[in-house]
Amino acid sequence: MNRTFVMVKPDGVARNLIGVIMTRFERKGLKLTNAKMMNIDRELAEKHYIEHVGKPFFEELIDFIMSGPVFAMVWEGQDAVKNARSLIGRTNPSEAAPGTIRADYALDVSSNIVHGSDSDESAEREITNFFGKSFEL
Ligand code: TYD
Ligand code: MG
Repeated sequence: MNRTFVMVKPDGVARNLIGVIMTRFERKGLKLTNAKMMNIDRELAEKHYIEHVGKPFFEELIDFIMSGPVFAMVWEGQDAVKNARSLIGRTNPSEAAPGTIRADYALDVSSNIVHGSDSDESAEREITNFFGKSFEL
């Protein structure tokens, strides 16, 4: 068992896609262990996307993730990180496989609906960033 951090981004929240996204994770068999609606400030945005500092899309990415409320979640289950990334699909929606969230609901890489941690280490770091050190299963 492990866990992963998943977040419906501002475009997904604005388009009322929280429910359909959560349903896909539930139907896969992952278990929701924490969730909250929140706004991301600049400090958290830059911490979350620290690996992308200096890339050409960084400023746009930070502005986008701060542009409206997000829905942050922790999902638990077998190979949670890998299974969540499979449900989400490739970063660029135009390269994502049909049936994945990004393929089915997004057009553009800069507003691709949902985030999922890319490794167990990222997941633990992101869960701490969003839910605090004291959060335990
Ligand atoms: P990345 O961590 O590479 O993708 P993923 O979300 O699949 O883990 O990039 C983080 C986000 O940055 C990505 O979801 C959308 C945005 N982004 C762009 O806007 N342009 C790009 O060329 C890339 C690679 C990412
Ligand atoms: Mg990433």
